[in-house]
Amino acid sequence: GLSPHTGVVPFVALLLLQRRPVAGRALLVTGSGCPGHGLCRSNVQEQTRRQVAVLNATAQELFSLYLKCQGEPFSSETDKLCNPAGIFFPAFRVNRTSERKEVMVAMYKLFAFLNASLGNITRDQEELNPMAKELLERLHNTTKTTRGLISNLTCLLCKNYNIFQVDVRYGDSSKGKSAFKKKQQGCQVLRKYVQVIGQAARVLLPHLSPS
Ligand SMILES: *[C@@H]1O[C@H](CO)[C@@H](O)[C@H](O)[C@H]1NC(C)=O
Ligand SMILES: *[C@@H]1O[C@H](CO)[C@@H](O)[C@H](O)[C@H]1NC(C)=O
Ligand SMILES: *[C@@H]1O[C@H](CO)[C@@H](O)[C@H](O)[C@H]1NC(C)=O
Ligand SMILES: *[C@@H]1O[C@H](CO)[C@@H](O)[C@H](O)[C@H]1NC(C)=O
Ligand SMILES: *[C@@H]1O[C@H](CO)[C@@H](O)[C@H](O)[C@H]1NC(C)=O
Ligand SMILES: *[C@@H]1O[C@H](CO)[C@@H](O)[C@H](O)[C@H]1NC(C)=O
Repeated sequence: GLSPHTGVVPFVALLLLQRRPVAGRALLVTGSGCPGHGLCRSNVQEQTRRQVAVLNATAQELFSLYLKCQGEPFSSETDKLCNPAGIFFPAFRVNRTSERKEVMVAMYKLFAFLNASLGNITRDQEELNPMAKELLERLHNTTKTTRGLISNLTCLLCKNYNIFQVDVRYGDSSKGKSAFKKKQQGCQVLRKYVQVIGQAARVLLPHLSPS
């Protein structure tokens, strides 16, 4: 028969549902199509290359500094606590032989996710480590570069492929989680980011070579 707890089940199910990563359709440009010329600067390809190279070159340092600022047990149990296996992170299955369009879309999904994740990490670190000036500065710099890159990818997607909408899957928000969970989530995301940005740089840079 019905247990007295039955009524609780839908509520629990709802909570679990809400904790799943958020899927979203990111509108690259407002409106229902790509605007005409003027969206792209002439050196957009070169800018994009440079931004990916900068992110790749600074990712490891950002992660190391982040780790240092979280203190114990993160420094001594990094492999266990920062293992990214359990978190959502956009798949990045493209390679050098993939079509350029596929590469650009995968890049967009990656950096839109990264931008949202950096927003959470920065908010958490401002709260948990307000004195970590260098870390906060690096987080802001990385966010700024990421947003510039997104705007350049937006322009390339529109101009070359008439793509103005991409389905982006975002991670879990860290809002309301414990301090430990916030630190851990940031650590997992940034560790995975170091791996994926290296791969992204290897795949993207040849696609954007000056021809
Ligand atoms: C590269 O990616 C394409 C899809 O973008 C896939 O069909 C192909 O098998 C991949 N090649 C290698 C060597 O992984
Ligand atoms: C980046 O993330 C912030 C939230 O932290 C959001 O408001 C903004 O629209 C995002 N920018 C892009 C280009 O996706
Ligand atoms: C935190 O992450 C969630 C999910 O990725 C995102 O929707 C939200 O905008 C982020 N918050 C901030 C402050 O960036
Ligand atoms: C942030 O960017 C500015 C301007 O490019 C640079 O001067 C500064 O050294 C950077 N800071 C960090 C911590 O990367
Ligand atoms: C591309 O990146 C550059 C450098 O960050 C930035 O100034 C520019 O606004 C970005 N967007 C476009 C559409 O050029
Ligand atoms: C990405 O950064 C790593 C570490 O700095 C470097 O060894 C590698 O050559 C870079 N990859 C590309 C394609 O620039």
